[in-house]
Amino acid sequence: MTFDVARARRETPGCSRVAHFNNAGSALPPTCVTDSLRAHLDLEAQIGGYEAEAAAEELIADSYDAIATLIHCDRDEIAMVENATRAWDMAFYAMHFEPGDHILTGKAEYASNVIAFLQIAKRTGARIEVVPDDEHGQIDIGALRSMVDERVKLIALTHVPTNGGLVNPAAEVGQVARASGVPYLLDACQSVGQMPINVEEIGCDFLSATGRKFLRAPRGTGFLYVRRHWIERLEPPFLDLHAAQWVAPNQFTVRADARRFENWEHYVAGRIGLGVAVRYALSWGLSAIRDRILILTEYLRARLSQVPGLTLRDKGVTNSAIITFTIRSEEPSDLAHRLSKAGFNVSVSVASSTLYDMHERGLASIVRVSPHYYNDFTEVDRLVEAISRAS
Ligand SMILES: Cc1ncc(COP(=O)(O)O)c(C=O)c1O
Repeated sequence: MTFDVARARRETPGCSRVAHFNNAGSALPPTCVTDSLRAHLDLEAQIGGYEAEAAAEELIADSYDAIATLIHCDRDEIAMVENATRAWDMAFYAMHFEPGDHILTGKAEYASNVIAFLQIAKRTGARIEVVPDDEHGQIDIGALRSMVDERVKLIALTHVPTNGGLVNPAAEVGQVARASGVPYLLDACQSVGQMPINVEEIGCDFLSATGRKFLRAPRGTGFLYVRRHWIERLEPPFLDLHAAQWVAPNQFTVRADARRFENWEHYVAGRIGLGVAVRYALSWGLSAIRDRILILTEYLRARLSQVPGLTLRDKGVTNSAIITFTIRSEEPSDLAHRLSKAGFNVSVSVASSTLYDMHERGLASIVRVSPHYYNDFTEVDRLVEAISRAS
């Protein structure tokens, strides 16, 4: 089946304004998402915020159902929060570590996650062990297996890193985690929305994601998946009167579902918009989205590889929608600035976002181009021509 790119572009007003290749930053939302936000904000203005929330009860409930359908879990296993980092934090900081415990992670781990590991290591005496890459630059499953022992209390991995096309073999990591009984936290911030994600097939216990990237939802939205087995075993690092109930002067009880990881006060329109964005992605089909992205990115990679002085920097066996490179003639930030003035949005990934990996490769910064299914070949050709002008 061919992908109806013309329809995708018609339903994305931003396409007529800019060639947006920064979907790993924040994607252009479709009209249905912005309409849903506006409608709810209007309702809040007309009848009041609490009253509007009550009136939108079904829409909000549908956001949980939509996310559960997207990643193949139950709605009770979903918490909606402000972003991927907070989602990840709520699971990570709920865990208990002691001196000598090990946290296993990968080379491509995201800065905010490693900062949290370092903080907890300092507080508790737990140790961070970084699993080496295999010859393709993805996490080495054999090495991971050999590093798992009774000291390992968590495997935490980034599925698709912020700085490249790598797709870590999340399900193979899940097999190791399951076989050893170690909890497994997957940062799926860059993968959700650009490919099918099934938490049963992956075997993760926790998964964090954001709304604004490949899901095309509003900024300030994200979600956490917590496998049912873990919900009542993990007390969130923060509790409020939504997550828990004050039942006697000296006593509280914590909710039994994953919403124990949420805040009482939140961005209601954003949650509705997130659900609408997820339903929209489901209507295209995540396999169709992935296939369309792969056709575009293969073409873009092939064209970039012909540009003199340009070095592609992606690692791994399977490619994602993220393409990174450096070019001899121009600093990444200068190139991104020049492209922006010419009507192309790209971004720059700096070493401090993925320090283990960038240090090992001696890279200070790289250009990141991240198409989505609504980009077309004409835009890709124009982008490559604009990039080539520097070389
Ligand atoms: C791999 C990865 N994890 C986590 C995050 C953080 O997401 P958020 O900004 O929604 O907290 C990002 C953001 O770029 C990311 O690329």
